[in-house]
Amino acid sequence: MSFVKYEQTGFVGVMTIDREKALNALNSEVLADLEAAIDAIDLDATRCVVLTGAGQKSFVAGADIGEMSTLTKAEGEAFGKKGNDVFRKLETLPIPVIAAVNGFALGGGCELSLSCDIRLASENAVFAQPETGLGITPGFGGTQRLARTINVGKAKEMLYAGTKVKADEALSLGLVNAVYPADELMGAAMKLAEKIARNAPIAVRASKKAVNDGLQVNIDEAIVIEEKLFGSCFETEDQKNGMTAFVEKRKPEPFVNR
Ligand code: CAA
Repeated sequence: MSFVKYEQTGFVGVMTIDREKALNALNSEVLADLEAAIDAIDLDATRCVVLTGAGQKSFVAGADIGEMSTLTKAEGEAFGKKGNDVFRKLETLPIPVIAAVNGFALGGGCELSLSCDIRLASENAVFAQPETGLGITPGFGGTQRLARTINVGKAKEMLYAGTKVKADEALSLGLVNAVYPADELMGAAMKLAEKIARNAPIAVRASKKAVNDGLQVNIDEAIVIEEKLFGSCFETEDQKNGMTAFVEKRKPEPFVNR
């Protein structure tokens, strides 16, 4: 029995954290299942992933507080590393990942959403990093990714004070791209995923890599990263297809990921 369900719909994979009775909190088992589910994605057959939480109430309510409550310093560091390794694997997955945040995204849940490329939220979504109220720092990348995603002052307020951010405020902060009524969220996430999946997969992957790698280096190195990836597209069938179609004033054939 896995705590992470995976379903393939055409080119889109839907991954669901499924530990509803604990509001999808991340214990070691859930993290291991999440890693296994990421490793199992067929990257030839999948062009975009939608990640969500089971039930109506919660995306992920954080790392498992019961499990963490008795950890030693060394065990705490190891638990943080486990979460960070899995989240980094998700962040560096070659294909885009959309977080469909359907309720609480607290602590490790907020951090999980930040490891995704794009966040869409339901109207009942709540984001927060409540860790300092539990006597710890965020441990799955929150201090780093939150401050790189929204303005640093607001990120620091969320980190120091545990301030909760509801969906409408998350939208105004740029933490999420859009907010939907709860029953429309998955449909909207699938629609966006399918739109991404219709574009040339190699170009989408190269765009993801260019943004992610480029943000880690100075602008001169970043531009070179883009140049190389841009150039590599010109040896693909999909580039020939897309540009020939434009020149011939017609729609391209479906892209083939070559
Ligand atoms: N860890 C373990 N169990 C959790 C959990 C968590 N993070 N969040 C919720 N649960 C469990 C509850 O213990 C409860 O289990 P039982 O029914 O067995 O008692 C069940 O989920 C339902 O939760 P509540 O009864 O509390 O539901 P509620 O609607 O009254 O409250 C909530 C919902 C506000 C989200 C509340 O559950 C809550 O505050 N949860 C903790 C949120 C939090 O602090 N998350 C950060 C964790 S630290 C972290 O994530 C560190 C890191 O960066 C790695």
